[in-house]
Amino acid sequence: MHLNIWKEKLELGIDVLDEQHFEFFKQANKFLIEVKFGLNKQACLESMSFLEYYLLSHFHQEFAFMKESGYPKYREHQASHDMLKIKIKAMFLKMEEQNYSDEVLEEFAKFLEEWIEKHILEEDYDFVQYYKSLDESQK
Ligand SMILES: [Fe+2]
Repeated sequence: MHLNIWKEKLELGIDVLDEQHFEFFKQANKFLIEVKFGLNKQACLESMSFLEYYLLSHFHQEFAFMKESGYPKYREHQASHDMLKIKIKAMFLKMEEQNYSDEVLEEFAKFLEEWIEKHILEEDYDFVQYYKSLDESQK
């Protein structure tokens, strides 16, 4: 079973964001393990909606953080979050439709690894570089 491994390179140096990213990985793995090892359907749905809620609230906080600090690409970043939300929602539907088969769970795990890592390492990274370049008074 493919799980998402947290890697040091994903730590960008802003504690609040790093902690939320780490927590998301943890929750995603918890979801995968619980579903794989026999949660009932209702529990799968609850676990999935928690993961979705966590991600949405993280995106929301990250966006507020960017806007407050005057990050010039905050709208672009929001568009990227919106795209991720759509893709994750589609994966959730697919998992439900396919009754959480091993194949679809693997696909979900790989999807998360690919997309979330890419997003953190490229787009969140870009914001962190900007944020670190600000004077203390601008933060
Ligand atoms: Fe982001």
